[in-house]
Amino acid sequence: MANKLLLILCYYKKEKILIEKFLNKIIPGDCLEVMRSMPEKSIDLVITSPPYNIKNSTGNGLKNPNKGKWQNARLVHGYATHNDAMPHEEYVKWQRDCLTEMMRLLKDDGAIFYNHKWRVQGGLLQDRSDIVSGFPVRQIIIWKRKGGINFNPGYFLPTYEVIYLIAKKKFKLAPKANRHGDVWEFMQETKNPHPAPFPLSLIERIVSSTTAQIILDPFMGSGTTAIAALKYKRNFIGIEIAREYVDMANKRIKEYLTELKFNFDNVQHK
Ligand SMILES: C[S@@+](CC[C@H](N)C(=O)[O-])C[C@H]1O[C@@H](n2cnc3c(N)ncnc32)[C@H](O)[C@@H]1O
Repeated sequence: MANKLLLILCYYKKEKILIEKFLNKIIPGDCLEVMRSMPEKSIDLVITSPPYNIKNSTGNGLKNPNKGKWQNARLVHGYATHNDAMPHEEYVKWQRDCLTEMMRLLKDDGAIFYNHKWRVQGGLLQDRSDIVSGFPVRQIIIWKRKGGINFNPGYFLPTYEVIYLIAKKKFKLAPKANRHGDVWEFMQETKNPHPAPFPLSLIERIVSSTTAQIILDPFMGSGTTAIAALKYKRNFIGIEIAREYVDMANKRIKEYLTELKFNFDNVQHK
């Protein structure tokens, strides 16, 4: 009996040590590989926005940066190390594999806020149900932006994206957070040099709507999820494949912490 207790104790201790290894770091690498090395049921919340595969489009899309409707879009050259143009089936499989890993990492009361974009492809709505079907989608939040990333005289400016709330059974919002409703209006980010950053206020809304202590973003980009987590005194884990964005995120975190310390010291001396 005592041995069994010890085994259980060691098991939990090992899990804790393992996850602590990842806390408050941006881990460079492929998110599937890194997530597969993390212990199951160790994460409270995932907030993420994957590449949208925007350059694989039945329209002119981003294929021809000089002639197409997208010529002014910041994503015209893709990401630093990912060109965002996978064959659709391959892309869907990749994203489903990523969601499967996120679900494995989540605790029983955890949830994923998975940001994506709906679009018309071949005259039909591509609503991303091929990616999320079979996962426990609880709600779809509309993020209404104040503008879009392109303009074409044949189209109204696209001004919304979606956030799938994919939740395990025991997930609950923080008290009173449900009053935010399911249509959220936040300006898109314009000052961040990353080609597709979250606006910080959007992620602060998500973080503050939960009591999550460990928050993972497997497509961390410029580190927005990390900054929101730090602002609310939560732990973050970021994974990012492009070294350039890892450096960008680390610089941003360092600047935020320096500013925090400066403000704290100033208050102490008053
Ligand atoms: C939509 S952006 C995320 C931006 C982020 N939300 C922010 O606020 O800056 C998607 C990110 O996923 C990264 N990425 C692409 N493939 C990846 C992979 N296999 N593993 C980890 N990150 C990847 C890209 O480099 C890009 O920075």
